[in-house]
Amino acid sequence: MIFVCAVIFFALITTATASVVPNIPADARWKQYGVTVAGGHGEGNATNQVWLPNGLFVDDDQTIVIGEWENHRIIQWKMGDTNGEVVAGGHDKGNRSDQLQYPTDVLDNKESDSLIICDLGNQRVVQWSRRSGTTQGKILIDNIDCYGLAMDDQRYLYISDYTKHEVRRYQIGDKNRTLVAGGHGNGTDLNQLYAPGYIFVDRQQTVYVSDYRNHRVMKWNKGAKKGIVVAGGQGAGNATTQLSLPQGLFVDTLGTIYVADKANNRVMRWPKGAKQGTVIAGGNGQGAGANQFNNLEGLSFDRHGNLYVADVRNNRVQRFSIE
Ligand SMILES: *[C@@H]1O[C@H](CO)[C@@H](O)[C@H](O)[C@H]1NC(C)=O
Ligand SMILES: *[C@@H]1O[C@H](CO)[C@@H](O)[C@H](O)[C@H]1NC(C)=O
Ligand SMILES: *[C@@H]1O[C@H](CO)[C@@H](O)[C@H](O)[C@H]1NC(C)=O
Ligand SMILES: *[C@@H]1O[C@H](CO)[C@@H](O)[C@H](O)[C@H]1NC(C)=O
Ligand SMILES: *[C@@H]1O[C@H](CO)[C@@H](O)[C@H](O)[C@H]1NC(C)=O
Repeated sequence: MIFVCAVIFFALITTATASVVPNIPADARWKQYGVTVAGGHGEGNATNQVWLPNGLFVDDDQTIVIGEWENHRIIQWKMGDTNGEVVAGGHDKGNRSDQLQYPTDVLDNKESDSLIICDLGNQRVVQWSRRSGTTQGKILIDNIDCYGLAMDDQRYLYISDYTKHEVRRYQIGDKNRTLVAGGHGNGTDLNQLYAPGYIFVDRQQTVYVSDYRNHRVMKWNKGAKKGIVVAGGQGAGNATTQLSLPQGLFVDTLGTIYVADKANNRVMRWPKGAKQGTVIAGGNGQGAGANQFNNLEGLSFDRHGNLYVADVRNNRVQRFSIE
C-alpha cells in the first residue's frame, strides 16, 4: 500500500456490487479529460473536500458514495452538488461505533438500505443505515484485515483479506466463511494471491481480484481451486501487457475488465480473453491535469457507462464521460 500509515504499507483498494452493471459497448470510448465531481479542494475535512478518496460507487440516483482514508468517513455527493454529506464516521479516527479508521471500501446494500464498509484500521466490516439521522454503525465481522468488498445477486458478501491473502464469502448474520480465492499464503502460483485488494463478483459468482503485489488481476470461477490470470501478470511495468499495483476493479456484462493501474496512473480496459489492455484514462504521467492521476484507487461506473475514479493524492473524484 501507499500511505504512510505504519500498519498499512500495502495498498488501498475498492469494489463494486453486482447491482449496477451497465451494458458498455465493445467499442466504447471515454473522454480523455476528466471532470471533478467531488473534492478538488485539497486536503481537509470540510464537506467540499475529499481527503485521500479510495473506494466508491455510484447508486441508481446518480449519488456518488466515497470512502475517505484520511477523514475516516464516508461521504456522498449528489450529482452536480458543490458539497457532500457525511453518511458514516467523520468523528475523527477511532474505534467507537460512531467512528471509522482508514476506511478503504464501501458498497450499497440495497435490500436493507445500508452501506457496508471495510473499516480497515479497526480490522472490521461495519454496516451503517442510509436513513437520515443514523449516528452509528454495527459490526458485521471483526478481526479481519479487509480491503475490498463485493456483494452478489444473492446477497452474499465477499471480502478480501490482505494479510491472509484470500477472499472469503459470507452470508450476513452467519459465521460461515467460505474461501473463494487464494488462501495458500502469499506467492505467484495460480492458487495464491499477494495482498489482494479490490474485488468484483459477477452474476455467476465469479470472483475477480486485484492481486496487488503480483501486478495482476485474477479470475476465480465459482468452486475453482485456482485462478486464471486475466490481466497483467507480467511483472510490474507500463507496457500494455502489464499492470503495476492494480487496485479498483470493475467487470461489465461482456466480461471486459476495467482496472485502476495505480502505479502507472492509468485506467486500463482488458476485453475478455485479451492478452493486452488499452488505456482509457490517464497514462500521461503522474500529475494534477484533467488527463492525469496522482495515485488512483477505486473506480466505478454509473448505469450510463460513465467512469468514476478516486484520484487519491489529488484529493478528488474524476468522471470520464462515455462518448
Ligand atoms: C477537522 O479538521 C480540523 C482542523 O484540522 C480539526 O481541528 C478537527 O478536529 C477535524 N474534525 C474532524 C471531525 O475530523
Ligand atoms: C479502542 O481504542 C481505545 C483507545 O485507543 C483502546 O484503548 C481500545 O483497546 C480499543 N478497543 C478495541 C476493541 O480495539
Ligand atoms: C457452512 O458451510 C458448509 C460448506 O459450504 C456447509 O456444509 C455447512 O452446512 C454450513 N454451515 C452453516 C451453519 O451454514
Ligand atoms: C509471505 O510469505 C512468506 C513465506 O511464507 C512469509 O514469510 C511472509 O511473512 C509472507 N509475507 C506477508 C506479507 O504475508
Ligand atoms: C514507461 O516505463 C519506461 C521504463 O521504465 C519509462 O522510461 C517511461 O517513461 C514510462 N512511460 C510512462 C508513460 O510512464
